[in-house]
Amino acid sequence: MSTKPYALITGACGGIGQAMVKAFSNEGYSVVATDIRAPQGNLNADHFIHVDLEKTVRNASYAETIFNQIRDIIENRGLRVLINNAAVQILGSTDKLNRDAWNETLNVNLLAPFFWIQNLLPELEKDQGSVINISSIHAQLTKREFVAYATSKAALSGLTRSLAVDLGGKIRVNAIEPAAIQTDMLIAGFVGKEKLLEDLNAAHPTGKIGLPEEVASFAVWLADWKNPFLTGAVVRLDGGIGGRLYDPA
Ligand SMILES: NC(=O)c1ccc[n+]([C@@H]2O[C@H](COP(=O)([O-])OP(=O)(O)OC[C@H]3O[C@@H](n4cnc5c(N)ncnc54)[C@H](O)[C@@H]3O)[C@@H](O)[C@H]2O)c1
Repeated sequence: MSTKPYALITGACGGIGQAMVKAFSNEGYSVVATDIRAPQGNLNADHFIHVDLEKTVRNASYAETIFNQIRDIIENRGLRVLINNAAVQILGSTDKLNRDAWNETLNVNLLAPFFWIQNLLPELEKDQGSVINISSIHAQLTKREFVAYATSKAALSGLTRSLAVDLGGKIRVNAIEPAAIQTDMLIAGFVGKEKLLEDLNAAHPTGKIGLPEEVASFAVWLADWKNPFLTGAVVRLDGGIGGRLYDPA
């Protein structure tokens, strides 16, 4: 059994998730990575659990199997940090968004974080743990066709504040709201549209979009921070774009 603190990361095979695994491992955590897809290449996590987060919302006995796998790994050591990082981004205009899109979006992006926190609360309390919810700039500022995603992220930021109140004195609950982050998938979406990517970078007061490593190192910092007063914080990590006035004049 490891003597390192445990970090549990959902969506660990994604662009930001992989950076989280690396950052928390480098910081001396024993990382329990989870995802619905298999890791490609060397994820570097100490443990990997294959999980469908949506199913953990819809099916209590499946969820219990997953939580027991986690408990078996961490034994009675407790959990120092839970990072609710996984999400789906289903885009569609208002007339196209159907029930399946809404259910999947809300189950993965909002309800899974809630039920994971609810079920792992004793383990988190045991190691004076904290939760970090990966929300999005879309919680506050959004674009056309992002209705389901943006609503789920606004709710996740709201959940963070509500749980900080409800769980005050037990665990800390904070969230990060990143703007555009340069993952492989984001870059793939700009192949053949390099000028658009240049414009996206330039739109940020910092002159560039964020890196997965920047989200990960901030998460490490939030997790490490021992001040019990730091809870309920929903922090923009956006290169300043959230304060920018778009004024074509
Ligand atoms: N990349 C960005 O520009 C950006 C910006 C703001 C916020 N975010 C947020 O950061 C987080 C990570 O984003 P990313 O860019 O790495 O995305 P990504 O799509 O690369 O990673 C998301 C991961 O979640 C997993 N996942 C999806 N549905 C699942 C399910 N049902 N069960 C288990 N795992 C599931 C996917 O398999 C994937 O590995 C997300 O919450 C996203 O909303 C990303």
